Amino acid sequence: MMAFWSYMRTFGLFLLLWLVNLGGRGAVVAYSSQNATALAFTSCLSGNGIENVTFKSSSSSSNYYTLLEFSLQNLRYAEESVPKPYALIVPESRDQLHKSVQCSIQHGWQIVMRSGGHSYEGLSSTSQAPNFVIIDVMKLERVEVDMKSKTAWVESGATLGQLYSAIANKTSLYGFPAGVCPTVGVGGTLSGGGLGLLARKYGVSADHVIDALLVDANGKLVDRKGMGEDVFWALRGGGGGSWGVVVAWQIRLVKVPPVITVFNVNRTGNDNVTELVERWQSVEPFAPEDLYIRVFVFGGSPVSLTFNGMYLGPLPQLLKLVNEIFPEMGLVAADCNETDWIGSVISTAVANGYSADLLNRYLATKRYFKNKSDYVKSAISSSGLQGAWKIMEEKPDSQMILAPFGGVMNRIPSTRIPFPHRAGYLYEIQYVLNWEDASEDAESVAWMRKLYEYMTHYVSKSPRGAYVNYIDLDLGHASANGTSTVQQAKSWGEKYFGVNFFRLVHVKTKFDPNKIFKNAQSIPPLSQS
Ligand SMILES: Cc1cc2nc3c(=O)[nH]c(=O)nc-3n(C[C@H](O)[C@H](O)[C@H](O)COP(=O)(O)OP(=O)(O)OC[C@H]3O[C@@H](n4cnc5c(N)ncnc54)[C@H](O)[C@@H]3O)c2cc1C
Ligand SMILES: *[C@@H]1O[C@H](CO)[C@@H](O)[C@H](O)[C@H]1NC(C)=O
Ligand SMILES: *[C@@H]1O[C@H](CO)[C@@H](O)[C@H](O)[C@H]1NC(C)=O
Ligand SMILES: *[C@@H]1O[C@H](CO)[C@@H](O)[C@H](O)[C@H]1NC(C)=O
Ligand SMILES: *[C@@H]1O[C@H](CO)[C@@H](O)[C@H](O)[C@H]1NC(C)=O
Ligand SMILES: *[C@@H]1O[C@H](CO)[C@@H](O)[C@H](O)[C@H]1NC(C)=O
Ligand SMILES: *[C@@H]1O[C@H](CO)[C@@H](O)[C@H](O)[C@H]1NC(C)=O
Ligand SMILES: *[C@@H]1O[C@H](CO)[C@@H](O)[C@H](O)[C@H]1NC(C)=O
Ligand SMILES: *[C@@H]1O[C@H](CO)[C@@H](O)[C@H](O)[C@H]1NC(C)=O
Repeated sequence: MMAFWSYMRTFGLFLLLWLVNLGGRGAVVAYSSQNATALAFTSCLSGNGIENVTFKSSSSSSNYYTLLEFSLQNLRYAEESVPKPYALIVPESRDQLHKSVQCSIQHGWQIVMRSGGHSYEGLSSTSQAPNFVIIDVMKLERVEVDMKSKTAWVESGATLGQLYSAIANKTSLYGFPAGVCPTVGVGGTLSGGGLGLLARKYGVSADHVIDALLVDANGKLVDRKGMGEDVFWALRGGGGGSWGVVVAWQIRLVKVPPVITVFNVNRTGNDNVTELVERWQSVEPFAPEDLYIRVFVFGGSPVSLTFNGMYLGPLPQLLKLVNEIFPEMGLVAADCNETDWIGSVISTAVANGYSADLLNRYLATKRYFKNKSDYVKSAISSSGLQGAWKIMEEKPDSQMILAPFGGVMNRIPSTRIPFPHRAGYLYEIQYVLNWEDASEDAESVAWMRKLYEYMTHYVSKSPRGAYVNYIDLDLGHASANGTSTVQQAKSWGEKYFGVNFFRLVHVKTKFDPNKIFKNAQSIPPLSQS
């Protein structure tokens, strides 16, 4: 083995000199900084016809940084101190993706997978591993809808907007339950759950996955039958980055009515907001599942509130229902629009500040941010809420988003897929803080931790719940060498997956004991010793 490598080193050097002598076209010059290990890897890629490979460069205006930052959403992870990949690989086909993964495994490069790039903690753009590459599947974005079986195959690199458009292109009577922001990737969403305005009616996105194509830790391409039910269970919500590379997913579409009503209602004033949130939390989680009302509480003094939601039916029925069960909301026809499902997707995106162009995969409003999540199992007292508003008054760019559960969530067993937060959960909270400049990083993150600390008393406990798609490294992470014991991983694993954590560890132990796939919060295998 040693002899082989010393041979390769010498041979590589000669090859290099020979190539440079040929007259140095762009690609050849790029190889000149490579040692033998790197050269063997890049030869594997080029030998397999994989040409879209962009190597690390020191010039900040280079294609490397343009490509690296294209889908990276949290500017904190574009900062200079954050480790950057040796190369960005953009496969053009499923076969190229498969081969890229095989070359990386064979030559010992840590793979960082990127679909839509929206990971809150940059886990699709950076890694703690000394030698890592990003495989970005942005070009694998095909969606094939089959109306005979009411299913679709969707590639991991498609965005939610592309998926929604492709469905609407075929039918207005079926949809898919997933998130609000159209640029979020299918790959990350289905790996971690997927919460949107259809959650009370249909659950999380991952509940509707019926098959998948995966490149596993041995570099083999397998489908549901080939991977077996354990892995198929784990990859539907067990978190991106632990189970292999998902190439494509088969999903089941869900039925939606021809007329859907969307609405937005604004209120202001601390006392009003407290009273409305108190009422909301005792009504909405128990309301008919066709009604979905989210609450945005905006920081600043005084705090203000927006109810944003939709009803799976026409306007008169919505008004009648809300006036019966939640008159305090004060919903009137002027706050509402009747539309169809894709219309509801677009107006909700716009109401949340995203583009109406569902096919554009570039999210223009990039931010520095820290988001965290919680789950609430019993209603928060008015004094508890007032205390939170007091903290939020300090930060006009803070938000608390309350997403109601109940409905079908109460009937899906918490072990059916790894996403565990089902019966008994009233709502999920997402805490959001945006800022404009890297110099505010430390102070902003400290403020967010203060709010989270304050909320401890009012939210789920033992374990305190969190949502893996709002990934949060404050909950713990692997040591710098990428190693975490099961005991360490419990600190985030039980928050994200509840009782499912240990089953995930067993699946990992059986199918990827050498941790080919890992990140700062992946599931570790049981130790080998
Ligand atoms: C602006 C914004 C709005 C959001 N809105 C919502 C919302 O409404 N509802 C909701 O539920 N969530 C929402 N999220 C969270 C979102 O669901 C997660 O961040 C999700 O993981 C993003 O998917 P992605 O493909 O864009 O992410 P990526 O960053 O590409 O991937 C996320 C993780 O999965 C891994 N991964 C990516 N692709 C693959 C693959 N093909 N195979 C295996 N592993 C892979 C990555 O390595 C990474 O660890 C939002 C996030 C942002 C930034
Ligand atoms: C080879 O090059 C890669 C990429 O620059 C680097 O990470 C690695 O440490 C190098 N290996 C050796 C043995 O020098
Ligand atoms: C790779 O693909 C990306 C995305 O389409 C493109 O911007 C980039 O120029 C391509 N790079 C190479 C080296 O072909
Ligand atoms: C919708 O269908 C038309 C015609 O078949 C096609 O040209 C277009 O690309 C489709 N759009 C999407 C988003 O699938
Ligand atoms: C209803 O439509 C109007 C006009 O397009 C728009 O200004 C308003 O924001 C919409 N309201 C909702 C709740 O989507
Ligand atoms: C409601 O509040 C949101 C968020 O502050 C704002 O964007 C929107 O314009 C407001 N709508 C109305 C009708 O005042
Ligand atoms: C509370 O709501 C009422 C009725 O909408 C409004 O008149 C009042 O100004 C609000 N209070 C504050 C402090 O904004
Ligand atoms: C934090 O989460 C909210 C809700 O999903 C999202 O709108 C916001 O954009 C996130 N922060 C950023 C800058 O992505
Ligand atoms: C990784 O680091 C941890 C903590 O620093 C240490 O306990 C462990 O032995 C290290 N593992 C390896 C494989 O180096």
